[in-house]
Amino acid sequence: MMGALQEQIAKRRTFAIISHPDAGKTTLTEKLLLYGGAIHLAGSVKARKSNKHAVSDWMEIEKQRGISVTSSVLQFDYDGYRVNILDTPGHQDFSEDTYRTLIAADSAVMLIDAAKGVEPQTKKLFWVCHRRHLPIFTFINKLDRFGRNPFDLMEEVENVLGIKVYPIDWPIGIDGHYKGVYNRMTKKVTLFEADNSHGAKQLKTTVGTLDDAVIKNLLEAEDYENLVNDVELLNGAGEEFDLQEVLAGNLTPMFFGSAMTNFGVQEFLERFLKLSPAPQPRQLQNGELIQPDNPAFSAFVFKIQANMNPAHRDRISFMRICSGVFEKGMQVYHYESGKPIKLAQPQQFLAQERTIVETAYPGDIIGVFDTGTLGIGDSLSDQSLKVKFEDFPVFPPEIFARVQPKDSLKRKQFEKGILQLSQEGAIQVFQQKDVGIESFIVGVVGNLQLEVLEYRLQNEYSAQLLMTPLPYTVARWVYAASKEQIEAMKGLDNGMLVYDKQDRPVILVNNEWALNWILERNSGLSFLTVPSNKAKV
Ligand code: G4P
Repeated sequence: MMGALQEQIAKRRTFAIISHPDAGKTTLTEKLLLYGGAIHLAGSVKARKSNKHAVSDWMEIEKQRGISVTSSVLQFDYDGYRVNILDTPGHQDFSEDTYRTLIAADSAVMLIDAAKGVEPQTKKLFWVCHRRHLPIFTFINKLDRFGRNPFDLMEEVENVLGIKVYPIDWPIGIDGHYKGVYNRMTKKVTLFEADNSHGAKQLKTTVGTLDDAVIKNLLEAEDYENLVNDVELLNGAGEEFDLQEVLAGNLTPMFFGSAMTNFGVQEFLERFLKLSPAPQPRQLQNGELIQPDNPAFSAFVFKIQANMNPAHRDRISFMRICSGVFEKGMQVYHYESGKPIKLAQPQQFLAQERTIVETAYPGDIIGVFDTGTLGIGDSLSDQSLKVKFEDFPVFPPEIFARVQPKDSLKRKQFEKGILQLSQEGAIQVFQQKDVGIESFIVGVVGNLQLEVLEYRLQNEYSAQLLMTPLPYTVARWVYAASKEQIEAMKGLDNGMLVYDKQDRPVILVNNEWALNWILERNSGLSFLTVPSNKAKV
């Protein structure tokens, strides 16, 4: 028999939606919340995005720009499941927070625009998930309008992303003018009738099997024939469905639908909840796994949001619970400081409001107020465990700038600010050595991070910045047989040698081509996209 903790774990699903801007993530999230009863009106998540009446007034910059700088968590119950959607910023200017949020997920939903296919940001986010063997579910969106051929889309996902695809749904209709979908698991056809309500109403649908007279009558002969042929082809030449392969992140189940018109959304949600994994064991630094049903509490911090309320200098540290039960006011061991700390005012973030959490379970995300003790990747656990989770991944920055204080008298505040913001994970900081310039090199994955840096340094540390963009777009951690070989790279014309916070050498270059150029001329060098303690210097 399942214990109470096991039951709580079994019903939880914690996932993130990954997509390129405009693929429809906000719309899909909203529809999922709508089906889950967490919101009652389509349009409220949208309103938050367009910031007409921003629910969150956490950060000034968020208000000014009308975008969500940091991500939160949306929770709802559906059909006996407790669903946690990790809400990642959808704006083009995405940041490291987007990547970090994925580390807290047990699976991901990859949303693709049927007309556009795999886009650049989808690729980046996919790779972060894939490297961690996260199960990925694909939802091809905007089926209500002209889209690409489904075989093309399948092939693109397989070839560009290198993952096997199993379409669970298959769209009906030729040349992207779709009439509905066929579900290969239930063997049912669902036809939709276009209306002009733009998703305010649920689409009228007709459901039946392939040889139902009603279905045959509703479909044009050509569409019907094509469908029969497609299904035969998929069954004959396509991948087999294998849940183990899905859970290992090697096979992605593919769905087709339209978030805007609601078509296929509920079917997707129900199937996804059945196939996607409950909270998974998490890796510790010593190589062991911590099982979610270990009764002792453990969690790791994956995001820090500073100054949500400008009136108080508070920070909220978001953590994912990995094992045991969280109870309000509990005292836990903080591995990094070696001290017990009390998790004060735990918050959970629902669609539109934050509420105090009394208890939470593995897979849940809670935010706690903190004055600066906690950092990204920190481990918290019951005194009986005192565990340390594996190192938090570093994501290679792609945008670089040299920063200096405008006023050299403000140097102290400037340095303090830069170091604190880098500890918080808002930016990555590098330094050049022995060049006589007193400055830092800042690396980020999205321009927005630079704007936040400038804004926060001025507002929280009263230090204005001089920021000089650098032409580099690629960072690689450098490993070599000798220190001399590394230092010889200081003189490079087409790159810059810097050191990260742990004093590990990093080379910044304009493009991948430059990396090859350097490698060809220096035998024994190797470059890694992320730092590794296993590689030798
Ligand atoms: P994002 O969060 O991924 O950036 O995308 P978002 O949901 O904001 O959707 C981007 C645009 O795509 C929106 O149109 C949205 O209405 C539209 N969209 C989303 N899902 C579907 C769909 O299934 N079918 C169709 N045809 N369109 C869809 P917009 O014109 O930018 O905004 P709005 O005027 O609808 O507010």
